[in-house]
Amino acid sequence: MEAVIVAGPSSPELSRKVASLLRLEAIEVFHKFFPDGESYMRLEGNVTGKTAILVQGTHPPQDVHTLQLLLLARTLRERGASEMIAVVPYLAYARQDREFLPGEVVSLKHLLGLLTETGVRTLVTVNPHSPWALNLKGLNSVSVDVTSELAEEASKSFGKFDVVASPGKKGETMAKAAGDAIGAEWAALTSSRDPWTGRVEVRVMGTSVKGRRVLVIDDIISTGGTMVEAIRALNSLGATAVVVACVHGLFVGNAARKILESGALNVLSTDTVPSIYSRLSVAEELVEALRPMIS
Ligand code: R5P
Repeated sequence: MEAVIVAGPSSPELSRKVASLLRLEAIEVFHKFFPDGESYMRLEGNVTGKTAILVQGTHPPQDVHTLQLLLLARTLRERGASEMIAVVPYLAYARQDREFLPGEVVSLKHLLGLLTETGVRTLVTVNPHSPWALNLKGLNSVSVDVTSELAEEASKSFGKFDVVASPGKKGETMAKAAGDAIGAEWAALTSSRDPWTGRVEVRVMGTSVKGRRVLVIDDIISTGGTMVEAIRALNSLGATAVVVACVHGLFVGNAARKILESGALNVLSTDTVPSIYSRLSVAEELVEALRPMIS
């Protein structure tokens, strides 16, 4: 079955890289905003009878990109795509995977439900915040993990690290994976966020960081609050250098500047969310996941 890449308006460059590595046609989506802010989109190619691989990240503006994803997926089905794969490098709403406070909308579950209703049967995403929450009846979810590649890129760009540290519940797993990839020790950073104020507190667990170069790695940087607390904690324990890496760099507002001003030497991220900090492309890892689905 012939496959084509459909280059969603949020991820044109990554779409083209994936298409080129897979040697597939990339169908462009002409896109503009109406004066009132609504999206206008037009498919510039034919998907009838083909496997359509729609590449559309749902990074900010999340709601715009999410609606575009759903509208495009529905259109591909209507135009007769025989199979639909959604590649969503950054999956929005992944952190609202349960009801933390009574009455909260569990956005991730409903978003995936809507995606499945468009006819998408496979979702490929990169380091989702809560992979366990992606299992939904009728949807085959594939999570691509670029932790090792990110740590290798950090080492290549900014020198050898003695310790890799990572915050949050997945901190230990992520720090170990990254540490193994670059031959460094690992430390977990326990972080807790007050659900009412949003304030984050970070503690360092495991190996000593005194006099050592530390790479702090996380799946996502949003406001930068977690990283700022992590950098402060590491510096107060005597780390000599701290570099910050994340898969999804949302860098809301002046997050990157806050991180650099709080003592990090450098910041890097991948191109799941394109920015000036995107030093690593996830295209090759996406291609590895997609190849078996279309051969
Ligand atoms: C939390 O579990 C995540 O791994 C990140 O640490 C968190 O979402 C980052 O958010 P912010 O940059 O706003 O502190």
